[in-house]
Amino acid sequence: MQNFTLYNPVKIIFGKGQIAELANQIAKDKKVLITYGGGSIKKNGVYDQVMAALSGYTVMEFGGIEPNPKYETVMRAVQMIRENQIDFILAVGGGSVIDGTKFIAAAVNYEGDPWNMMTDSASIKSAIPFGTVLTLPAAGSEMNCGAVITRGQTKIPFMNPLVFPKFSVLDPETTTTLPPHQTANGVIDAFVHVIEQYITYDAKAPLQDRIAEGILQTLIVEGPKALKDHLDYDVRANIMWCSTMALNGLIAAGVPQDWATHLIGHEITAVYGLDHGQTLAIILPNIMAVKADKKRDKLVQYAERVWGVTDGTAEEKVEAAIAKTREFFESLGVKTRLSDYDVGEDSVARLIKQLEEHGRVAIGEHGDIDLKQSEEIIRRSL
Ligand code: NZQ
Ligand code: ZN
Repeated sequence: MQNFTLYNPVKIIFGKGQIAELANQIAKDKKVLITYGGGSIKKNGVYDQVMAALSGYTVMEFGGIEPNPKYETVMRAVQMIRENQIDFILAVGGGSVIDGTKFIAAAVNYEGDPWNMMTDSASIKSAIPFGTVLTLPAAGSEMNCGAVITRGQTKIPFMNPLVFPKFSVLDPETTTTLPPHQTANGVIDAFVHVIEQYITYDAKAPLQDRIAEGILQTLIVEGPKALKDHLDYDVRANIMWCSTMALNGLIAAGVPQDWATHLIGHEITAVYGLDHGQTLAIILPNIMAVKADKKRDKLVQYAERVWGVTDGTAEEKVEAAIAKTREFFESLGVKTRLSDYDVGEDSVARLIKQLEEHGRVAIGEHGDIDLKQSEEIIRRSL
């Protein structure tokens, strides 16, 4: 097992009716800014629950944080905070609202151009405290200190412990209004987060492996159920907890990590606007195929333990596991080829240029996915 430091200070408040707990988590004298997205929270009653919990507080709001939050949008919130002496932010929404809020929290008192935080996260010296009310299980942002922001055709992540939420309220009932494709995207995102930390090489960390396999198997069973019956509370609760556990640092402890699927996926979103989950469903099977040699032991373990494939040679097991992964994504209604989204062959050169511009020239757990291999992966994804 590799050495590791694990630090996670986020308080999770989980379950039905827990939005009412907000009043016990935020000091009464705080001036609170609520950040949210395109308005889903106003249609499904989440906004009303938040406002009821915060009655008596001084509250302002900033809406319009779009999926794949834009620098220009979040900078408008930074301006608003600077002008109104806000001292606590409450992000209410999915990964985009939470990520945008992390950027906002860190940018308010940042000296210099806040965009520099993205490439020099160590330069962040403070952040306004914030909490979250999660409405879409997917990104894991509610319990980690990462955020992904887009400026033009650059979509990049930053991480800093100063942007851990103080708390996150996870009420699975808020997720029953998700459109089916967002539920599916979320299951796939959580699934791929686990894979990025699991299908690398053997680090002699069987507990981390077993936890990873437990999350994957739970998502495989519960994901389709959420699409069949969107109101099943326990299904929603299990998917929500899986997606939080998938990216809160626990399964990353002591093991190598890949993240190539995400880095290539971000370029696809930046240029062609596909949802984050869609890009992962397209790229992952092809990374597994192109890196089958280096990832063989873990792919065989994945085939056997997660999919129950026990017959055949190692090669046959790997092939079966890749096919089952693709079938799982497709069974959730998410297409797994670029051509399904009208993205054609000219995308190969475009995406390679993007990767080069962003310095993604040696990615994966061995740093051995160069532009040539990325090209092979993207070509297979057409
Ligand atoms: O904007 P509103 O109106 O709220 O609608 C949203 C949005 O259109 C809607 N939605 C959310 N909750 C809903 C709902 N609709 C109905 N009922 C609800 N309860 O869903 C749409 C998508 O929301 P978004 O927040 O964009 O989705 P997601 O949670 O998948 O977040 C995606 C972003 O997270 C980043 C991605 O790159 C992407 O920018 N990620 C962040 C990570 C992190 N911070 O650690 C890691 C991830 O790998 C990921 O990269
Ligand atoms: Zn992701």
